[in-house]
Amino acid sequence: MQTIIARSLPNLKKNLNNLKKNKKVGLVPTMGCIHDGHLALVEKSKKLKYFTVVTIFVNPAQFNNTNDLKSYPSQEKKDLEILKNNNVDLVFIPKVQQIYSAGYSTYVKEINYSDILCGRLRKNHFSGVLTIVLKLFLITKPYAAFFGEKDFQQLFLIKKMVKDLNVSVKIISVPTVRDNNGLALSSRNKLLNPKSLKLAKKINVHFRKIRHLHYKLTRDLESYLQKELKKNGFNDIEYLEVRESATLEHPVTIKDKKSLRVFIAVNLSGVRLIDNYKLK
Ligand code: PAF
Repeated sequence: MQTIIARSLPNLKKNLNNLKKNKKVGLVPTMGCIHDGHLALVEKSKKLKYFTVVTIFVNPAQFNNTNDLKSYPSQEKKDLEILKNNNVDLVFIPKVQQIYSAGYSTYVKEINYSDILCGRLRKNHFSGVLTIVLKLFLITKPYAAFFGEKDFQQLFLIKKMVKDLNVSVKIISVPTVRDNNGLALSSRNKLLNPKSLKLAKKINVHFRKIRHLHYKLTRDLESYLQKELKKNGFNDIEYLEVRESATLEHPVTIKDKKSLRVFIAVNLSGVRLIDNYKLK
């Protein structure tokens, strides 16, 4: 089957209306710059025999910094080639005006977990994410949608939105895909200079040590890791926090390592990278 490319809402609608009644849509929302992390989501959707729709849309509503939005990498031609080679059924590439028409003013806002971790310094980031994700759900009417664990808070908030707003889309998560050195794949890795890339590949080395540490207090483990990373060249850590995987709560003591994750955001020569690791 050929990959369909839809660049307008009517064209997308026409193609989705043509689907057989019992065909389920599997949605993989992306901002482009497709890498193996995205392809793991595609692969899962294809395996489940869904009509796999990948969207490529750099969503301005989730950027609170215009330079970050302007410098976000894009490679449409290459993306289409990769997606075709991976038998994606349809790629939807809308223009900003089609998604946010003049006078647009309706946003989704989650009020308890959106201002921690990645939301602390990026005001309204998650409102932008939830708004576009809900819009893409309404536009493509998927049976299931796929998201990576690398953006763990995003995944958590999307699951929460779906539950809170009774959205009937199944959310399927996929573990973080890493390169041979353990660096989590991200479109932003492309923006790293060789020195920063080398440093980025070390993040997981420090985190892998956690499994062998036996701290009782969360803050002691956090401050040990902060010191380790600083000593090894990470001068700009935005946050480093241990939280419960299921609730994102920040516990005082470390009781069950299995239920905890450490979350990190670092800036390396102006490029912001995030990752998270299970404590056990
Ligand atoms: O994870 C991303 O690439 C984006 O936040 C998403 C989910 C595609 C929404 O723009």
